[in-house]
Amino acid sequence: MVRLIINGCGGKMGKVLAEAAVRSGRFVVAAGVDPAGDADAEYPVYASVSAVREAADVIIDFSVPEALEGTLAGAREKKLPVVVATTGLSETHLQLMEGAAQHIAVFQAANMSLGINLLKSLARQAASVLGSTFDIEIIEKHHRTKRDAPSGTALVLAETLKSVVEHPVEYVFGRKDANRLRRIGEIGIHAVRAGNIVGEHDVLFAGEDEVVTLQHTAYAKGLFASGALKAAEYIVRKPTGFYLMEHMIAESGTVMDLNTSDAALVSFKRIPGSIGNSHHICEVFSQAGISIDMISQTNTDEGFHSLSFSIDSKDAKTAGKVLKELQEQENTLSGTLFTDLCKLTVDGIGMETQSGAALTVFGILDALQVEPKAVSTAEKQISLLIGSDHREPVINQLKEHYNLP
Ligand SMILES: NC(=O)c1ccc[n+]([C@@H]2O[C@H](COP(=O)([O-])OP(=O)(O)OC[C@H]3O[C@@H](n4cnc5c(N)ncnc54)[C@H](O)[C@@H]3O)[C@@H](O)[C@H]2O)c1
Repeated sequence: MVRLIINGCGGKMGKVLAEAAVRSGRFVVAAGVDPAGDADAEYPVYASVSAVREAADVIIDFSVPEALEGTLAGAREKKLPVVVATTGLSETHLQLMEGAAQHIAVFQAANMSLGINLLKSLARQAASVLGSTFDIEIIEKHHRTKRDAPSGTALVLAETLKSVVEHPVEYVFGRKDANRLRRIGEIGIHAVRAGNIVGEHDVLFAGEDEVVTLQHTAYAKGLFASGALKAAEYIVRKPTGFYLMEHMIAESGTVMDLNTSDAALVSFKRIPGSIGNSHHICEVFSQAGISIDMISQTNTDEGFHSLSFSIDSKDAKTAGKVLKELQEQENTLSGTLFTDLCKLTVDGIGMETQSGAALTVFGILDALQVEPKAVSTAEKQISLLIGSDHREPVINQLKEHYNLP
């Protein structure tokens, strides 16, 4: 059981968090902190983190920005990791967290939802395609009691877009100037505060005669609480340092996916001449109706190169015939068809922001003494070709490492 201190326990999120922690069966609320008190709490409540007498493993903070300095000081005194979920933080707060992260583990996220983090990734992709020609506006909506505006998430989305768009970007918060046209490079950011809206973020890309809108809607605060609990479980295992959602996503099983299929490999070790010969080989396979994948071409000795590609196992028989015919036509070509292979693909949006996934996969292969026939990596994907007999042990190790079902 992870023993939790809830900072801001009397607030809306504090209460939702306490409930979610108990319901999870993995946490026990050791104490709460709130200078305003909390008469309903079923755990001791203190006015500051330093004053807490109960032993604990981690602090989750859903309070107010002004509380941060005291919370970090209390966490340092008690040598406890902290998850900072409070929003409306300034540059000074960031420096405070970075300073504390020299001594304890600090995790910070302006939005604890996985969906929002996916929205960030989609917005980044959309901006890289549309950013130079489409106007971008961010509209966020929250309940009437939210204090900071625009939301921390809207600002994080804006920063994400800014890092991708090629031209210089200027943020425009709410439009009220009369008689001024929109300038190129503006990102408009608008806040709506009304009723009990849990949280809505729209990223709007508007071009000539078309609009693309990416939208995330939070329907209940419980999603932020479960994200914060995940973050707490993540940092209790971590050494001193400053951690963000991207780090957790990269290492977390929730966004990883494993796919396998039966495959074969066609490999040519020494192809003489230019890339044109590789082109010809690929063309011949393609004309035989064989889809090729995981293509790797490397220049070996002067004037020679190697080429390999994977194919679906159902095409192996045809590939054998194509290979034989090719070699009969071109006696300088020497290719091999490897069958009984398995193509294993590890997917995860986290790979985009965090290095090390390929290292982990290689480490697992090494530990199991499995020699892959081929490996290819992309932004969010690693594909391996291994002998079919190694499929089970490799999958089991990957599932265990990435916490996959
Ligand atoms: N990161 C996320 O995913 C996420 C999601 C929801 C809300 N939030 C943020 O969490 C914060 C809290 O939200 P809320 O809706 O619960 O607000 P709230 O106003 O209902 O609660 C804030 C609580 O903090 C308490 N507080 C004030 N000073 C304190 C101090 N020095 N130490 C400890 N507690 C103190 C207040 O008494 C209050 O009970 C806000 O910044 C909000 O934007 C973040």
